[in-house]
Amino acid sequence: MLIVFLSLTGNVRSFVKRTELESVEINYSDPLFEVQESFVLIAPSYDDDITDIISSFLNYKNNLDYLIGFVGSGNMNFDHNYCFNARDLAQKYNKPLLFTFEFSGTDEDVNYFKKEVNQLASTGIK
Ligand SMILES: Cc1cc2nc3c(=O)[nH]c(=O)nc-3n(C[C@H](O)[C@H](O)[C@H](O)COP(=O)(O)O)c2cc1C
Repeated sequence: MLIVFLSLTGNVRSFVKRTELESVEINYSDPLFEVQESFVLIAPSYDDDITDIISSFLNYKNNLDYLIGFVGSGNMNFDHNYCFNARDLAQKYNKPLLFTFEFSGTDEDVNYFKKEVNQLASTGIK
């Protein structure tokens, strides 16, 4: 399972690095690249541009065919807007919101997410 992520200030990047899973980062100003294996997408939360940039990536070539679900990174101080980009994307593409974490996540978050990904992979998704 591939992890595709966007990170503006490094929190999501740090989380992904600690999972030691295979990953690829979306470039904010050049988000179009092709994936050809199942992936989970991790999004930070800022504004609607994040949803648009990730949508551009998802709509490129056949990328959407490989999308398993979304994970959000955010800050609970934003209250009802906590992880809103990942939630908006999950709704827009009718895919599950698998998990959310604050900032770069705790070690517990990293372990939980790795288990979740392993479980998804064991259901036959590669
Ligand atoms: C200007 C700004 C706006 C933000 N807006 C939200 C928000 O609406 N909801 C939320 O949950 N977190 C919000 N955050 C928190 C970030 O999403 C959070 O710090 C995240 O871990 C950033 O990931 P990154 O460092 O990989 O870019 C905001 C942070 C900044 C600096």
